[in-house]
Amino acid sequence: MSVAIDLKGKKAIVFGIANDKSIAWHIAKRLNDAGCRIAASYQERTEQFSLPLMKELNNPIFAKCDVVSDELLDSFFAKVKEEFGEVDFLVHSIAFAKREHLQGKFMEINRRGYQVAHEVSAYSLAELTRRVAPMMKNKGSIIAMTYLGSEKAVPGYNIMGVAKAALESSVRYLACDLGERQIRVNAISAGPIATLAASGIANFSDMLLNYVAKAPLKRNITADEVADCALFLCSDLSKAITGQVIYVDAGYSIMGT
Ligand SMILES: NC(=O)c1ccc[n+]([C@@H]2O[C@H](COP(=O)([O-])OP(=O)(O)OC[C@H]3O[C@@H](n4cnc5c(N)ncnc54)[C@H](O)[C@@H]3O)[C@@H](O)[C@H]2O)c1
Repeated sequence: MSVAIDLKGKKAIVFGIANDKSIAWHIAKRLNDAGCRIAASYQERTEQFSLPLMKELNNPIFAKCDVVSDELLDSFFAKVKEEFGEVDFLVHSIAFAKREHLQGKFMEINRRGYQVAHEVSAYSLAELTRRVAPMMKNKGSIIAMTYLGSEKAVPGYNIMGVAKAALESSVRYLACDLGERQIRVNAISAGPIATLAASGIANFSDMLLNYVAKAPLKRNITADEVADCALFLCSDLSKAITGQVIYVDAGYSIMGT
């Protein structure tokens, strides 16, 4: 039996397109190619790389947004509401911590660094979900991006691991909040992929080598493989799956060494 995933008539909000390496970009393209319209948000600092990509999408909405700015969030969601009315999917593919907090000892983190990482990388999922849920009239799927550093101590990942643990827990609570309305909330835990965000992590190249050496599939993964999983999570093929962390990591997370 072959099953094609058709998202014609569906609409998705995608946060986190910095450039053509971004996981969010690969997901946006995959959803777009399945017939879904995309509302993409990008940060001002990445505008020169994000904006040209919009030409590759079919009739997208795009606008600057920053999850720490209520003003920008208000204007982005007002624009989406006006043009889309209803929304089916939300992709949260954003994270931030200061570079100095992604190396050295975790205990050196200061209060502000801890707050910033959590505000952008974890709290924002609840904020975006609260804003999009009223626009999800006929079920929905919300997807966040996470990493194994939430549950294991990965050298260099430090504060981002703690923020990802909060993000994954948020996924479970949001799934409970919204389950009655058939709105599903899941996270994809991806193996390492060379992106802008990843370039801030000390030891990142060691992580890539480690996966090739230790993952059952003996290789790294691609952003397109993450996008395949996101497409599945947006489709009815996953309609009974919510509150889960799904690993797209060549199996690395199952290993004991
Ligand atoms: N690359 C990897 O190895 C990897 C592995 C597992 C999970 N992830 C996660 O995937 C997600 C996407 O990261 P990526 O690797 O594609 O890198 P990326 O740098 O391409 O994407 C990160 C995005 O976060 C956005 N962002 C940061 N602060 C923001 C703010 N205040 N408001 C709005 N947007 C903000 C950036 O503009 C950027 O688009 C992140 O959650 C990351 O932790 C990445």
